[in-house]
Amino acid sequence: MNLHSVSRMGMNRRHILRGLMATAAVVSLPPQSIAATSGTDQWRTITAKPGDARLLDAAQSVRTKIWGYDGSVPGPLLRYRQGDTVRVRLENQLPDPTSIHWHGVAIDNRMDGVVGLTQAAVGPGEQFDYEFTLPDPGTFWYHTHNQSWEQMARGLYGVLVVDERDAPAVDQDLLFVIDDWRLRQDGQIDTGSFGNMHDWAHAGRLGNWLTVNGADRPQISVKSGERIRLRLVNTANARIFRLDLRSPAHAASMIAVDGFPLALPQELQEAIELAPGQRVDVILDMTGDPGGRVAIRETSTGKPVDCAHFVYDKTGGKKPRTNRRIAALPTWGNHAPVDIAAAREIDLHMTGGAMGMMSGAMHRGRMMPMGDLVDARKVWAFNGVAGDLDRPLAQLRRNEHILINIKNDTRWPHAMHLHGHHFQVVRRNGTPVSGTPWRDTELVRPMEQVTLGLVADNPGKWLFHCHMLEHQAGGMKTWIDVRA
Ligand code: C2O
Ligand code: CU
Repeated sequence: MNLHSVSRMGMNRRHILRGLMATAAVVSLPPQSIAATSGTDQWRTITAKPGDARLLDAAQSVRTKIWGYDGSVPGPLLRYRQGDTVRVRLENQLPDPTSIHWHGVAIDNRMDGVVGLTQAAVGPGEQFDYEFTLPDPGTFWYHTHNQSWEQMARGLYGVLVVDERDAPAVDQDLLFVIDDWRLRQDGQIDTGSFGNMHDWAHAGRLGNWLTVNGADRPQISVKSGERIRLRLVNTANARIFRLDLRSPAHAASMIAVDGFPLALPQELQEAIELAPGQRVDVILDMTGDPGGRVAIRETSTGKPVDCAHFVYDKTGGKKPRTNRRIAALPTWGNHAPVDIAAAREIDLHMTGGAMGMMSGAMHRGRMMPMGDLVDARKVWAFNGVAGDLDRPLAQLRRNEHILINIKNDTRWPHAMHLHGHHFQVVRRNGTPVSGTPWRDTELVRPMEQVTLGLVADNPGKWLFHCHMLEHQAGGMKTWIDVRA
């Protein structure tokens, strides 16, 4: 990725801050901390509406106009316990139709929020009631599923935490929601480049301004000796982040991916790669010096930038690492292993994009050459079909075991997300792999072949798409039909 970066993700920071320095002061913005649980059987209303956010600097006066749930970004943290019922009334006060999708939840299909597949769009002034139970604990998120490439870039997303019945004890449970925005020099969202075909045919809409929890480089207050659970969520349209959380000042272990518990906590050996839609939970044992600052670095562009800091309390002294063992999270317990030998194989061939070989594809029932596809804004295809949802990729019996052989014949990585289910990678480039965690979003690299195994245990129509949102809109979407 080539970012002509001046300081932060390619944006000329000095330019943007010119004239704003008068009001700039050091203000520590606490990370969004996981506080009181919202999990009750009460209905709660979430209003999708315009709002504004201090994306540039907590202290200065520029407020970026966003669209957000309850007008904020991220939207309100929704926190429940495993087995709880979510009752959310979406109220749409936006000028455009919208919806909410509950990313990663093995949900009741009618509540999946996919406009055009599972529900009609919720128009301006309208409401929609989402009611479903939460079978699995972990870190999930919610976002619009209508015109996502625009609506998510404007800020329509939030985090859904489902607590384990037997959650590990930590001193702080913190969100780390990372996004990149494409802002103009005046600090407003660059709406003029929505739909830019170059983005659609390349990596997607990459931003030039990075935020964590909707803020510029927040300071995360910590104490020496503390144990912290940090929940990383990538809400960007297209950016694959690499977060380097390693430091001599703390020990860090990964305990979950896409909400799913790892069998054994894994001490971090390298930066964490986080594709759009993916989540990772990390346990940190803090051992830094009182008053010290430790940066979390984002390294995906090759030019590391500090995207947040741990700031140690000045009092209390330096403490050694807690001697409590980092235990694995309680396993979900409801995933039957995939019977690889007996599973039905389904092929998914990805083509298109810049520098690809695609000469044409089916769209709206006819074969179109590339030129017509560009006019129709469909520049990617699955199995030679660009973005049509009239027929599913596969019709499945309930509880059928399947293998989806993804062959990426493009020059671009794609973060493939399947709704309503979890899968395991069972083969990579033809080689069997075992013991991989269950996920809902998997990064498939350029020219790579990845086989996902799953049991189609959730009836309904389930979207399967690239989570680079411009790729999704540009043709990379299909669905599976699981019969009741
Ligand atoms: Cu996170 Cu189909 O979406
Ligand atoms: Cu893609």
